[in-house]
Amino acid sequence: MLVKGEPYRTIWPRADGQAVTIIDQTRLPHVFATVDLETAADAEHAIRQMLVRGAPLIGATAAFGVWLAMRADPSDAALEDALALLLAARPTAVNLRWALDAMGATLAPLAPSARADAALAKAQAIAEEDVVINSAIGDHGLQAFEEIWRAKGERGSLNVLTHCNAGWLATVDWGTALAPIYKAHDAGLPVHVWVDETRPRNQGFSLTAWELLNHGVPHHVIVDNAGGHLMQRGEVDLCIVGTDRTTAAGDVCNKIGTYLKALAAKDNDVPFYVALPSPTIDWTLDDGRNVPIEERAEEEVTQLTGRTADGDVGTVEIVPTGSAAANPAFDVTPSRLVTGLITERGTCAASAEGLRGLFADRAA
Ligand code: MRU
Repeated sequence: MLVKGEPYRTIWPRADGQAVTIIDQTRLPHVFATVDLETAADAEHAIRQMLVRGAPLIGATAAFGVWLAMRADPSDAALEDALALLLAARPTAVNLRWALDAMGATLAPLAPSARADAALAKAQAIAEEDVVINSAIGDHGLQAFEEIWRAKGERGSLNVLTHCNAGWLATVDWGTALAPIYKAHDAGLPVHVWVDETRPRNQGFSLTAWELLNHGVPHHVIVDNAGGHLMQRGEVDLCIVGTDRTTAAGDVCNKIGTYLKALAAKDNDVPFYVALPSPTIDWTLDDGRNVPIEERAEEEVTQLTGRTADGDVGTVEIVPTGSAAANPAFDVTPSRLVTGLITERGTCAASAEGLRGLFADRAA
């Protein structure tokens, strides 16, 4: 997608073949900077500290991290160590496990001397597959958007609410929830986006708004508490979010606060869609209550970072010294609150039957 008119992806092998380059998302929207990852430990750090984030991009970065490890030492022990190191970086997005399983299955049977080249090829294939999947999600989502637009009588704008950042920054390209938004905008639909703040890390304000601005998509940023009110007033035509892990029965784990938006949407008859790439389906889980929920640092809640009037980026305390903070990073939206799962193979009901209907080969 575009940054100041120039096309970018979120991750790419450096031209000299010695490193992988990422966009440092902790510095957006104020500073656009790239960082080179040269070791598996660099990749683990980038995932853990959220220089890269978003379920599909976490998976792709981990895959490249295995390549970096194999460049340094292609032994069986080094492969096992790299897989374990990267798997422990973040617990909730299942794409991490999916990508590392794929890397392990490709590399383990090979002679060590063949592993580095094979690791790069597999990581690149994982990244390319992500782009193809998200573009297809965009096409299927566009159909749902067009239906809602027609049902609305094609008047005013098509008002879409999204939570967190499930745009191209969360993937290799296109994004999941934002892919249909980009495709709708490019197709001439008058789409307008309500961008949820997404406390505590503000992925909506910092990343989604930045993406939409760069692509020229009309939007307003709103605080996390505004969505229900806007839905009551008929100012939201649909919600669409991404997901970090969706169970085989269609329960959706996503960024904290997603559940509250789904409840408000249900109460106001607003369609609530989830953009779901198949690597984000956890076929081993039926019950969303069993998804591991990441607990992050208190400082993410007690502090805020932003740009001051003199242009410097700084961090301030916003909580009385001494108050403890809890910081669960994800929640689970039960399948009954989800209107549909938009996958690369089409849209289905959020249920075991719905998912099996599209992915009989994987469910088995
Ligand atoms: O903690 P983050 O920023 O990695 O969380 C990201 C989300 O919750 C996204 O909505 C999810 O990964 C879907 S991204 C395509």
